[in-house]
Amino acid sequence: MRYSILGGGKRLRPLLTISAIKAVQGNEEDGLVAGCAVEFVHAYSLVHDDLPVMDNDDIRRGKPSCHRKFGEALAILAGDALLTHAFFVLEQGVPRECLCTAVRTLAFASGARGMVGGQADDIRSYESQHVTQEYVESIHSRKTACLIEAALFIGGMVARANQENLAALGIYGRALGLAFQITDDFLAYTGKTEALKRPTGSDEKHLRCTYPRVVGSRASQKRACDLIDQALLAIRAFGSNAHPLAALAEFVKCRVTICD
Ligand code: IPE
Ligand code: IPE
Ligand code: MG
Ligand code: MG
Repeated sequence: MRYSILGGGKRLRPLLTISAIKAVQGNEEDGLVAGCAVEFVHAYSLVHDDLPVMDNDDIRRGKPSCHRKFGEALAILAGDALLTHAFFVLEQGVPRECLCTAVRTLAFASGARGMVGGQADDIRSYESQHVTQEYVESIHSRKTACLIEAALFIGGMVARANQENLAALGIYGRALGLAFQITDDFLAYTGKTEALKRPTGSDEKHLRCTYPRVVGSRASQKRACDLIDQALLAIRAFGSNAHPLAALAEFVKCRVTICD
């Protein structure tokens, strides 16, 4: 568990949680524990995603993936425990009055209609002969954007944001999350190993319906940039308080325009 949660990573999701708090003028430090809870779910998802029966990837963040270091059985259990611990941590990180909503948000985003469902369709995508752009977006939205959206909602809840502001954070989160997974696909497709800190080729080997495979690499870049613009538009009303959210969106845009 320590190896996979403390061994690097960009910490995008907790950064989004505290940046959402800043956007609605809350106290950013109030989001540290809740942001960690989201990161625990993320770390678990990567441990399981790398397993031989899933993506069979030996390297994660420039180091042996969890199962390569500790064996498959311990990696499965570490993932299980990271997921469970996320809810233990979340309980300590959100105000009492929104605890139930925060638990529901994180559980929904992580589960069958969110990340796990997206992962399930992703690993079966090689079976689909005619994958459409819509279908690959549905997979990406569930496997990646749902948790990113939840990171933002939970930040908003911690700061007791109103419904209008929560809705704006949700629009930003869905657009950024989809752009983020398109970018991850794009970097893997174009062989940008330094940006990903792991070898590429796993998507091709497993015939996954990645964004560039379905629509091509230029169209993937364009779609990611358009989504970033949508995300930026959604947070405009927050004014200068949204600078950290805007900077994170620009970071994703830089990754997808890396080859230009
Ligand atoms: C990788 O996520 C998996 C995807 C959802 C694309 P990140 O790129 O956020 O992983 P780390 O935590 O920074 O390694
Ligand atoms: C990761 O998808 C999504 C989750 C772990 C939920 P990928 O399999 O595309 O991500 P990487 O490229 O291994 O990080
Ligand atoms: Mg995968
Ligand atoms: Mg993978």
